[in-house]
Amino acid sequence: MTANEQFDQYLQQKLDEKKSIGTLRSLIYASDKIDFSSNDYFGFAQSGLLNAVDKNELPAGATGSRSITGNSALAEATEQLIADFHNREAALIFNTGYMANVGLFSCIAGKGDTYISDEYIHASIIDGMRLSYANRLRFKHNDIADLEKKLSAATGKKIVAVESIYSMDGDEATLIAIAALCKKYNALLIVDEAHATGVYGDKGDGLVCKYNLEKDVYAVVHTFGKALGLHGAAVTGSNVLRNFLLNQARSFIFTTALPPHSYLLVQKAYSLLPTADRNKLHQQVNYFREQIAAVKNIGFIQSHSPIQGILAGDNFKTKALAAYLFEKGFFVRPILSPTVPVGKERIRICIHSFNTYEQIDQLVAAINVTQ
Ligand SMILES: Cc1ncc(COP(=O)(O)O)c(C=O)c1O
Repeated sequence: MTANEQFDQYLQQKLDEKKSIGTLRSLIYASDKIDFSSNDYFGFAQSGLLNAVDKNELPAGATGSRSITGNSALAEATEQLIADFHNREAALIFNTGYMANVGLFSCIAGKGDTYISDEYIHASIIDGMRLSYANRLRFKHNDIADLEKKLSAATGKKIVAVESIYSMDGDEATLIAIAALCKKYNALLIVDEAHATGVYGDKGDGLVCKYNLEKDVYAVVHTFGKALGLHGAAVTGSNVLRNFLLNQARSFIFTTALPPHSYLLVQKAYSLLPTADRNKLHQQVNYFREQIAAVKNIGFIQSHSPIQGILAGDNFKTKALAAYLFEKGFFVRPILSPTVPVGKERIRICIHSFNTYEQIDQLVAAINVTQ
């Protein structure tokens, strides 16, 4: 056996281990199913609205990193538009939300400083914090008392990281209380608004703006891959932070910038956000919650956001329920442990403004049959 074959055998063993505990992932696609899974909350990605942007005059690619040849007036104007939209001084665009979080959290703190993050914080923030060499403390999910305990134990610069809407549970951080506590302990607060951008706030500017917390939050991450239906992300904050990141954030510096037409698409999506059908989206969410609450013997996670979790048991039961619903024509995905804690394995359902009441009824009826 060659060294390459031996290595493949070793990797296959690891995959077999994952399979035996029900956590093996595979890639699927299904354009013919009813979408109860994507993060395209308003259907921007599908609607054709964004395709109306004229990209013919633009180069197909950025030709280099932002620091070398990939910068443009268009990129900078887009950043200013985003900063203004969210009531911040400045914004810096990264190629993805993952890269924004890794870049931000890896470079703004170091040895002797302390990150304190909610235990359900997104993997991209965990990876960024790990790269920083700062100490890391976790507080119990949305537990203010535990956050206070951790804040009083922290040393050096203290930076608290939360998501305004949690990507797996769909519940909301108690942002006002968290911001007050950060003030008391002289800690910085950073909020990832990935699942709130577009979905909350009068014009879709997110929960930090909705609660007027702009001055109490040091930096906010907005991603373009969810409600905006696109790709990329921005870190918003002060001019100094922007300058620091473009000097220090390695996931910004050492990568080819987005293609120029991406900025046009982001501008277009932002122009659509104020009139996006938030009322309808939240009505559909409430309708789903009422219907699922009436199903006997079903566990679900309390959430008022479009992200709804149906607790299905262990990894195998969750996969089986997802497969059944998929076969019945619904695009839903299982979320398994260890991505979520053991016992909290779930079907993650995303409600969209374009889902109809009838589709929601059909989905709930299909879940009901399995109980
Ligand atoms: C809370 C949160 N932050 C960041 C990201 C990463 O964003 P992107 O998909 O743009 O890399 C995600 C997406 O999964 C997310 O849910």
